Amino acid sequence: CGIVAYIGQREAYPIVLKGLKRLEYRGYDSAGVALLNGNGLKVYKKKGKVAELEDHLSGKDVGSHVAIGHTRWATHGEPSDRNSHPHSSGNGKLAMIHNGIIENYSLLKQELLKKGHVFNSDTDTEVLIHFIEEIQSSNQCGLEEALRIALKRVVGAYVIVLVDEDNPDTLIAARKGSPLVIGVGKGEHFLASDASPIVEYTKEVVFVNDYEIAIIKADELILKNISNERQTPYIQKLDIELAAIEKSGYDHFMLKEIFEQPQTIFDSLRGRLDAKSGTLTLGGIREHAAILSQAKRIIIVACGTSWHAGLVAEYMIEELCRVPVEVEYASEFRYRNPVVGEGDVIIAVSQSGETADTLVAIESAKQKGAIILGVCNVVGSSIARLSHAGAYTHAGPEIGVASTKAFTAQLAVLCMIGLKVAQEKGTITQQRFQHLLDELDAISEKVATTLKLNDQVKQIADKYKDARDFLYLGRGYNFPVALEGALKLKEISYIHAEGYPAAEMKHGPIALVDENLPVVFVATRDSYYEKVVSNIQEIKARKGKVIAVVTEGDQTIPGMADDVIEVPAADELIAPILSVIPLQLLAYHIGVLKGFDVDKPRNLAKSVTVE
Ligand code: G6P
Repeated sequence: CGIVAYIGQREAYPIVLKGLKRLEYRGYDSAGVALLNGNGLKVYKKKGKVAELEDHLSGKDVGSHVAIGHTRWATHGEPSDRNSHPHSSGNGKLAMIHNGIIENYSLLKQELLKKGHVFNSDTDTEVLIHFIEEIQSSNQCGLEEALRIALKRVVGAYVIVLVDEDNPDTLIAARKGSPLVIGVGKGEHFLASDASPIVEYTKEVVFVNDYEIAIIKADELILKNISNERQTPYIQKLDIELAAIEKSGYDHFMLKEIFEQPQTIFDSLRGRLDAKSGTLTLGGIREHAAILSQAKRIIIVACGTSWHAGLVAEYMIEELCRVPVEVEYASEFRYRNPVVGEGDVIIAVSQSGETADTLVAIESAKQKGAIILGVCNVVGSSIARLSHAGAYTHAGPEIGVASTKAFTAQLAVLCMIGLKVAQEKGTITQQRFQHLLDELDAISEKVATTLKLNDQVKQIADKYKDARDFLYLGRGYNFPVALEGALKLKEISYIHAEGYPAAEMKHGPIALVDENLPVVFVATRDSYYEKVVSNIQEIKARKGKVIAVVTEGDQTIPGMADDVIEVPAADELIAPILSVIPLQLLAYHIGVLKGFDVDKPRNLAKSVTVE
C-alpha cells in the first residue's frame, strides 16, 4: 500500500492526490483521502485506481490544509469502497491510513465488539483505530498517549497516520516494519511511503525508524520513541531528480526503465570499477571483506525478481570464490527454523529494501549471529539500514511493477561482490579478474546494442501473443534468466509461463510440448551451449515453436529455431545481463499488445510490505 499526507499552507488535496498517483505502483485496488477543514473531517474512498477516486471527488469541496491519502493492496478484506482507507473511529472524529498488517486484530476485535464497537469493514485497520479510540475514552487521555498504549499491544507491522478533528493542526504517525519518509518544507510537512511524492517539494527528508512516533504540525516535527522519549530527527538530503520518477516521453515506466539500463548499469559500476587500473572498490563492504572471505557459506535471501538475481549470483560466487552458496526464498527461509549463525554471511537482495519477508528473514538471522550484507536499490531503506554492510545498486527509482533495471543492476553489483571476495580469498587469477573487469566495463555498451532489437522483439511478440502457455528454458547462468523471462511474461501479460532448467525439461514439461507451445531458449554461447542445442532438438522433434536468444554470429541454432534474437557476445558470468533484455521486451510488448496496463498489472504490488 502507499500512504501520503500533507500539513501546511498549501491546498492539501492536490498534493495528496498527486502523491497517491506516484505511489500507485505500491497497490491500486482502492484509494481514499481524509480532509480536515473548518467544517470538520471528511473521508472519501473508492474501489479502483486513484483516477476513480479523483472522478468521485470532482466538483466536491476539497479545500483543506491537512489531508491524508491511501492507495491500497488488499490484505484483510476484498477491494471495495468500505474496505478502502482511510478508516474512521466510531465517533467519526479520527481518521487513519495504514500500511502493514495487524496480526492480532481478531483478538482485539473480539474485545471491542464486547464493548459495543460496530465495524463497517473487514479490515485490521478499522480495528486498530477503534482500539485507539477505546483507549482514549477509557483512559481519558490524548490521542498521542492512546496511540502509544495501543501500539504496545499491537502485533504486526505498520505505518499509520492519524488525523483528529479536535486537533486540526496536528498529524500523528507511527512506524514499525513499514516505511515512512517525512519531507521537511518551509512551514509544511509531507509524509509518504517513499520519497517519490515528496521530491518535487523538498529534498530534505527524515526516515522514521521502527517504534518511533512522529507528531507533525506545519512548522514543527517532533519524534519520540515508544517510551515517550524525544528523538532528534536526522534530516537527510535526497539525491533523486524529478525526471527519475516521470515517464519522460515513454508510453510506460516499464519501457523507460528497460531503456535506461545502459545508464543504470553504468551507474552501478561507476566509482567502483576501474578496468584501466585493474581495481575494484566497494566502499560499503570494505570493512567486511575479510569476514566475507572467511564465510563458511553464503546464503542469499530474496523474493521475486531479486531472488532470480540471487540465483545467478549463486553460480557466480561459487565459481569465483569456491564457497558454498544457497539461495532461499526469504519467506521459506525465515519460517523453517534454519540452521544459521556465526560464520554465515547472508546477502539480502531487494530492490525496494522494504519487502517484509526479506526484512524479517534477515532480522532473525542477524539475531543468530550471521553477518548481513544488503544489496538494495532504495537508499536508506529498512533492509539497507538493518544490514551490517552492503552495496547499493544505484538503478534509480523503479516505478514499473515488473522489475527490470533493478535486476540488471543487481547482477552487476553481485558480480562485483563475487570478484571482490574472490580477490580477497585468492580464488581467482589476476588474468581472469582483469578479464571480468574488462567485460563488466564493456557491458553498458552491449546493453545499448541489445536494445536495438526492440522492433524485432515486438514482431515476435505479435506472432506469439495469443499463446496460452509459454515455456522458458536455459542452463547454467541462463537458467535463472529463463525463470525471470517467464516471471516477466506472467506478471504483465497474464499468460501462464514456466521457467525450467533446459535439461530438466525432459522430466516433465516436455509433456506439454506441441505445435502450439512457444518455447523460449536462452542459448547464448557458454560452456553449456552444446547441451542446450540438444535440448532445442528435443523440442523441435515434438513440433514446439522455438524462440532462441543466441550470441551474435551463431551458426547452428538459427537453422533449428523458428525465431532467433542475437545478442552481443559476453563472458558467461555476465551474459545474463544481456540475455534477459529481449525477454523483458518480449513480455512488455505482449502485455501492451493484449491491452493490459503493464505498469500496474492486476493483483501485484511493487513493494510488498506484508509477510
Ligand atoms: C514484488 C514485486 C517484484 C519484486 C519482489 C521483490 O513481488 O512485484 O517485482 O521482485 O516484490 O521485491 P524487492 O523490492 O525485495 O526486490
